[in-house]
Amino acid sequence: MISKVVFVVGFLISLHCFPSISVRASAQPVFACDTARDPNVVHYGFCNASLGRDARVADLVRRLTLQEKILFMVNSAGNVSRLGIPRYEWWSEALHGVSYIGPGTRFSSLVPGATSFPQVILTAASFNVSLFETIGKVVSTEARAMYNVGLAGLTFWSPNVNIFRDPRWGRGQETPGEDPLLSSKYGSGYVRGLQQVDGHADASRLKVAACCKHYTAYDLDNWKGVDRYHFNAVVTQQDMDDTFQPPFKSCVVDGNVASVMCSYNQVNGKPTCADPDLLAGVIRGQWKLNGYIVSDCDSVEVFYDDQHYTKSPEAAAAKAISAGLDLNCGSFLGQHTAAAVKAGLLKESTIDNAVSNNFATLMRLGFFDGDPRKQPYGKLGPKDVCTPEHQDLAREAARQGIVLLKNRAGSLPLSPTAIKTLAVIGPNANVTKTMIGNYEGFPCKYTTPLQGLTASVATKYLPGCSNVACATAQVNEAKKVAASADATVLVMGIDQSLEREGFDRVDLLLPGQQPLLITEVAKVAKGPVILVIMSGGGFDVSFAKSNNKISSILWVGYPGEAGGAAIADVIFGYYNPSGRLPMTWYPQSYLQNVPMTDMNMRPDPSKGYPGRTYRFYTGKTVYTFGDGLSYSKFSHKLVKAPPILVFPLDEDHICRQSSDCDSIETIERRCENSAFDVHLRVRNVGRHGGSHTVLLFATPPSVHNSPRKHLVGFEKISLRGKSETMVRFKVDVCKDLSVVDELGSRRVALGQYVLHVGNLKHTLSLRI
Ligand SMILES: *[C@@H]1O[C@H](CO)[C@@H](O)[C@H](O)[C@H]1NC(C)=O
Ligand SMILES: *[C@@H]1O[C@H](CO)[C@@H](O)[C@H](O)[C@H]1NC(C)=O
Ligand SMILES: *[C@@H]1O[C@H](CO)[C@@H](O)[C@H](O)[C@H]1NC(C)=O
Ligand SMILES: *[C@@H]1O[C@H](CO)[C@@H](O)[C@H](O)[C@H]1NC(C)=O
Repeated sequence: MISKVVFVVGFLISLHCFPSISVRASAQPVFACDTARDPNVVHYGFCNASLGRDARVADLVRRLTLQEKILFMVNSAGNVSRLGIPRYEWWSEALHGVSYIGPGTRFSSLVPGATSFPQVILTAASFNVSLFETIGKVVSTEARAMYNVGLAGLTFWSPNVNIFRDPRWGRGQETPGEDPLLSSKYGSGYVRGLQQVDGHADASRLKVAACCKHYTAYDLDNWKGVDRYHFNAVVTQQDMDDTFQPPFKSCVVDGNVASVMCSYNQVNGKPTCADPDLLAGVIRGQWKLNGYIVSDCDSVEVFYDDQHYTKSPEAAAAKAISAGLDLNCGSFLGQHTAAAVKAGLLKESTIDNAVSNNFATLMRLGFFDGDPRKQPYGKLGPKDVCTPEHQDLAREAARQGIVLLKNRAGSLPLSPTAIKTLAVIGPNANVTKTMIGNYEGFPCKYTTPLQGLTASVATKYLPGCSNVACATAQVNEAKKVAASADATVLVMGIDQSLEREGFDRVDLLLPGQQPLLITEVAKVAKGPVILVIMSGGGFDVSFAKSNNKISSILWVGYPGEAGGAAIADVIFGYYNPSGRLPMTWYPQSYLQNVPMTDMNMRPDPSKGYPGRTYRFYTGKTVYTFGDGLSYSKFSHKLVKAPPILVFPLDEDHICRQSSDCDSIETIERRCENSAFDVHLRVRNVGRHGGSHTVLLFATPPSVHNSPRKHLVGFEKISLRGKSETMVRFKVDVCKDLSVVDELGSRRVALGQYVLHVGNLKHTLSLRI
């Protein structure tokens, strides 16, 4: 996202701190079919709510000239005054709160800020699907409230569901991590929260329209001179179908998302926004998208100008629209579509289809139903933004996501009564904006880590470095502070200066003298030393993991506006940590044989290539996917799981004769009754109550280069100390246990599976 031009501007703005708040607050929402302005609109079929949606859309398209239709193919859509249709700006963002990125939304004295939730990677670490959805609901409530007073649009280009495939990626922070199942559950959950209208007769009605991006196999921004505008992602069909596509499929099929955004990069030599198989074929054809396909900002221009994919701009416009693109972020289609039609490269009926998808989406949002203040959500306004409940949820989300990676006995939680002074050291110890990551808005307010901790105990604060790059650390001063305090909290990590859109990392080490500062402080500290890492991506913190003087390590992502309060909640034990890492933390040496440009998920021993993510990589990790401790201990006992599963086969199936069948196609009829139960008794054996995520993994038989292990299901539960509960999974053989073969088909492997929950293992044999 972010057009190239805007990106540069955005960067300049960030150097000059916040853009100034607009004071020209218009208090009017933008909508069509306004009877107060023009009583004649009631006679237009497209304004008539008692007609079916298709008829209304067809009526509108019929009334427009070609030139007018083209006005609706770009994000800054034009007005058609003769029909009472005002300008509409499609581009708004709400990745983790209503954002000021994109011209569709702005803050003003009327609404100076919106609730800023943790950056997505931390919310994903909560492994709590109902939280994903609840955050979406709150964000769409605030978005609608802002729309009603003319400050926001109705179409939000969030979430980002690309797989966090490489730890260096500057945008990994925006995603739900490296696992396809978690990413799918996050994407569909957040989309439901944003879009769902409760209790409306029309089930397809939208609260706001979400958009899953960036389709597909994107996840490289700028690494050693290779940038996303020129990158050709070479992806096997197998990786495509079992890693990169599932979150998008889930967005469309399970979440009913109203939009998908195609990316900048090419996939196997074709720009995604010009690929009819990927757009019309898969998204609309196979997954049956009900909504519109939008390009990333200037994607069409990029494949013409930067990739030279077509000879003329008209050909680029024709290619994109024929491939299934409906809306262009940017102005390219506005400039070249008419000429493409004139040159015979594109039929007007193709344009009709595209604008119909766009209009139908606006219609589902109520845009053509007259004054939105008389419609559902019409009463929402500034009073519904930044409410105490919404802000509490931002704090709750951060608490649920924070991951405790190391905790020596007797370290955390700290007792707020026993600690008389707490040393708080580090370049991220008193940060505000760093906590909200990118695609941010103005938050309601901030609680920095220092402020959060100071609310419970007396603190002594020292930044330790002048910024996260930490060229020179204040080692001696920091040692003095730590030596005289009862405990030390070091808040380290990075910020957008070292990982961001358009900027990937080149290594996995804490920058500059941060490791030196940490190690030296730990040497002299009197009490426990708690290392807090604030970041999107993971780090090689082996030096801290193995250092006995560093008693605890916490990863806090970019924890949002209430991050400092949530960090204190965990450190003082007001909340028992329950987050789990949504991505692997690799050692620095991992990067040696892993060019960021290599899209392969599976290892290739002939090249020394180790593979990617916990599903394929078997080498050393610093921390791995799913890691995360609690102040309690939880035990699992298997109560129910079949030892043998029999998969039905037709009389004449070839595998009945042959003994070397290792897998069977998943076809609907065969999959009908393929689900089985796994029941576990989970006990909190500790004293502290707390939440606990049960992660159910499966290791399939090793055929088709299948993953060594993959997540089949997860369930977050809450348990009082010394109590237990039953956790039930329904596992569908075809959907959950199947593997994707070399050609991209889902197949059920025959043979031995191992189910894992924590240390528990259960063997299951699948036969025909
Ligand atoms: C709206 O459509 C309904 C159903 O076709 C029709 O009966 C009604 O007259 C229309 N309203 C107006 C104002 O044209
Ligand atoms: C859009 O609005 C402007 C200003 O009101 C007007 O001059 C222009 O003709 C309108 N464009 C169309 C296509 O209606
Ligand atoms: C999941 O999140 C919701 C907030 O939406 C919270 O009420 C619930 O307690 C969380 N579940 C667990 C097990 O922590
Ligand atoms: C911590 O940050 C807050 C918010 O920016 C600021 O008001 C406060 O002065 C800072 N505290 C110290 C001790 O620097």
